Amino acid sequence: MDGNGRWAKQRGLDRIAGHREGAESVRAIVRASREIGIKYLTLYALSIENWQRPKIEIRALMALLGRFLKSELDEMLSNGIRLNVIGRIEDLPKGIKRRLKQAMDQTAHNRDMVLNLSLSYGGRDEIVDAAKRISLRVKEGALTPEEITPEIFSAFLYTHGMPDPDLLIRTSGEFRVSNFLLWQIAYAELYFTTTFWPDFRREQLLAAIEDFQQRERRFGMTGEQVAFARKE
Ligand code: IPE
Ligand code: MG
Repeated sequence: MDGNGRWAKQRGLDRIAGHREGAESVRAIVRASREIGIKYLTLYALSIENWQRPKIEIRALMALLGRFLKSELDEMLSNGIRLNVIGRIEDLPKGIKRRLKQAMDQTAHNRDMVLNLSLSYGGRDEIVDAAKRISLRVKEGALTPEEITPEIFSAFLYTHGMPDPDLLIRTSGEFRVSNFLLWQIAYAELYFTTTFWPDFRREQLLAAIEDFQQRERRFGMTGEQVAFARKE
């Protein structure tokens, strides 16, 4: 979710106003995703690197997050949305952590869509954390190095038990992945748009999905193999 600051600057507003409007996009995209039957939606809300931003901006982002959790809980409950956090949740302020835990507990049984919020998230950090935990298991004798496969490795990531993303969308005209779900996006389709996040709403999401639907995903096979497998 990129481009809040530039969206605001274009209008002569401060960055916080951009984040506020960006939060409205979050609401719109969660709602639209649920309606069209997306099973997993992961939003990159805050990276580990984002902690370096000015204190006042961090404080505003946390306030928006707190407000979002409060205002959207009912909707998550009535729409079968399960909230989950990926990232170093321990880095977050106490009050936010408490609210996140409550929302995760209350929505734990929901099955229609998982809303993953990436908070204090870093892809390399996630992989390193997994490697650390795997080496501990090896040290304890619970796992042998030979048993470590991509599937086992995945089970140690924050996203364990979830499918890899099909589509990765980046807004605001940046053509980078910026440390997001590095392991999980191995076969994801990438979609880049110059639209700033506060302007990214239902219509823009549907356009991204339409684009995705035109792609041929081969997973390393030939086009003929894929066509044959589809007929089977
Ligand atoms: C929002 O956009 C993303 C967050 C980290 C919350 P930015 O704040 O990165 O906006 P730009 O890149 O300055 O336009
Ligand atoms: Mg940015």
